[in-house]
Amino acid sequence: MEVIHTISAFRQARAQQGQLGLVPTMGYLHAGHLSLVECAGSECTAVAVSIFVNPTQFGPNEDFADYPRDLERDLNLLRTAGVDLVFVPDVAEIYPEGFSSAIEVTGVTEMLEGVARPSHFRGVATVVGKLFNIIQPTCAYFGQKDAQQAVVIRKMVRDLNMPVEVIVAPTVREPDGLALSSRNWYLTPTEREAATVLHRALTHAQQQYTAGVRDGAALRATMRAILDAEPLARTEYVSAADPLTLRELDQVGERGALLSMAVRIGKTRLIDNVILK
Ligand code: PAJ
Repeated sequence: MEVIHTISAFRQARAQQGQLGLVPTMGYLHAGHLSLVECAGSECTAVAVSIFVNPTQFGPNEDFADYPRDLERDLNLLRTAGVDLVFVPDVAEIYPEGFSSAIEVTGVTEMLEGVARPSHFRGVATVVGKLFNIIQPTCAYFGQKDAQQAVVIRKMVRDLNMPVEVIVAPTVREPDGLALSSRNWYLTPTEREAATVLHRALTHAQQQYTAGVRDGAALRATMRAILDAEPLARTEYVSAADPLTLRELDQVGERGALLSMAVRIGKTRLIDNVILK
């Protein structure tokens, strides 16, 4: 496994590879990230992982400085997983002095996560666009866990004709349903128990859908009621939206729906979602 810190060295290493799968990450890897690596390994001849805590996707009051980091541990996990190339640039390599460009995807970035995090997707699209240019992957792998991010990346790739195939893989969960996240490490034991409420709310609404409920407001109310019953949870939003446009639905139709939510448990902001087909 080659660990590479600069863009020029990465370009040289990339030129030796043919078909390459990329898994972009911010590190502090868990089984969710590793499932993307496995998926890439099964579909591509070589696998690259990027580890970069991207400052431009964090808001001024968010956790950029505190975001968990452990490069040695991450590299050991990636070595065991059989990864070929790891790209670990520092901030100045990606955003050198005078950097002043951005990729802005509109229409699907203003709602849901975009309300509380108005510049988040601009930062995500810009860094992922840069990583695509540097790494030139054949395929790039993203998790359903960040559903809106996956929609934004797919739209960017289509709108800007980027020569990359985007693959979105299922959310990996703990046995009790909590979606794996690097931010779960912030939770105290009591908060960790309360955090299962997101999955419980989503599962309950999913069961209602299976039983025939198609009314968007009813599905949102079901999720909200379950979240409201958990004293440690403060709900930021619940949504039953079109899976492509992310507009809130009155009725779930042919295209199904994305049920999603952002909930604060103590100081930790958690997101989760399920797709109704
Ligand atoms: P990060 O939060 O490190 O996540 C990297 C990838 O892992 C994302 O595609 C995310 O959706 C996926 N992922 C996270 N938790 C998962 C889970 N429980 N199951 C399956 N996949 C999961 O997302 C980012 O980094 C950044 O925004 C990035 C795309 C790297 C741009 O900076």
